[in-house]
Amino acid sequence: MHYRFSLIGYPINHSLSPWIHKHFLKKAGLEGEYTIYEIDQKTSLGLEMEKLKSKQLHGFNVTVPYKQKILPLLDKVDDTARKMGAVNTVVNENGIWTGYNTDGIGYLRSLESKFPELFRDKSNSILVIGAGGAARGIYAALSDEGFNHIDIANRTENSAVQISEIGNKKTKTTILTLKEAELAAGNYDIIVQTTSVGMKPAKDRSIISLEHIKETAIASDIIYQPINTVFLQQAKNAGASIHYGHTMLLYQAQYAFELWTGEKVPIDGLDQKLLLELKGR
Ligand code: ATR
Repeated sequence: MHYRFSLIGYPINHSLSPWIHKHFLKKAGLEGEYTIYEIDQKTSLGLEMEKLKSKQLHGFNVTVPYKQKILPLLDKVDDTARKMGAVNTVVNENGIWTGYNTDGIGYLRSLESKFPELFRDKSNSILVIGAGGAARGIYAALSDEGFNHIDIANRTENSAVQISEIGNKKTKTTILTLKEAELAAGNYDIIVQTTSVGMKPAKDRSIISLEHIKETAIASDIIYQPINTVFLQQAKNAGASIHYGHTMLLYQAQYAFELWTGEKVPIDGLDQKLLLELKGR
């Protein structure tokens, strides 16, 4: 079997997904290819989708700006992706094009691989900063996992309220302003940064100051360019543990690859290899 995968989005020339999936294919001992299919926003996604279907793909990834727009063009959408309102992985299931969202599970897997003990106590309190697409996936996954105290801090209150409504009924959530979050940072066991603040080129910024974070806490940033965000540096300086953003990228790809091939490829040293690849870019 020769697997054919692709990525759609715009712009995607610098995407790390081809690099990651080529490693997965090799590790799984499978033959195949992962191609980039850049779709300009001026063209019709519906027409492009028909072209994609004729390419005999086993599946494809979807990124910005099509994660939401792809939904009505699919034959089926999995419950989690439906709840997220966003699809990042499409699987050709014998001609039924089915949408999934691997971001939330990818994040959980990445966190659990580094901090397994965290998952043994679901009363650990969590703060999610941000209320965009990434926050939505992460909040839902943490809530489904059974964590019962997950607060959300965001610049725009209403987006945070909307996210809190998708959680499991057992999850208690308070909505905070960014200033309140900064002052209350010492109350949390995990603080997850999901906004774009601190990303290259504005890498000198941090969404909140972490001067009050507990030494026993974990600070997690989903930004991976740069790897050492100001947010994570502040956490490190305060003695807290840190969780890097590139690991979510790897684990969401691992789950996508698993949906396409049935193979759960171990991450092993790929984490370190990806760090080197990122530094070279
Ligand atoms: P994604 O889908 O990648 O998560 P997004 O939907 O654009 O991205 O969400 C971006 C997040 O970053 C939001 O929480 C946004 O806050 P708002 O909901 O108030 O827009 C947050 N964000 C982006 N720029 C920000 C800034 N300069 N200050 C504070 N928050 C910011």
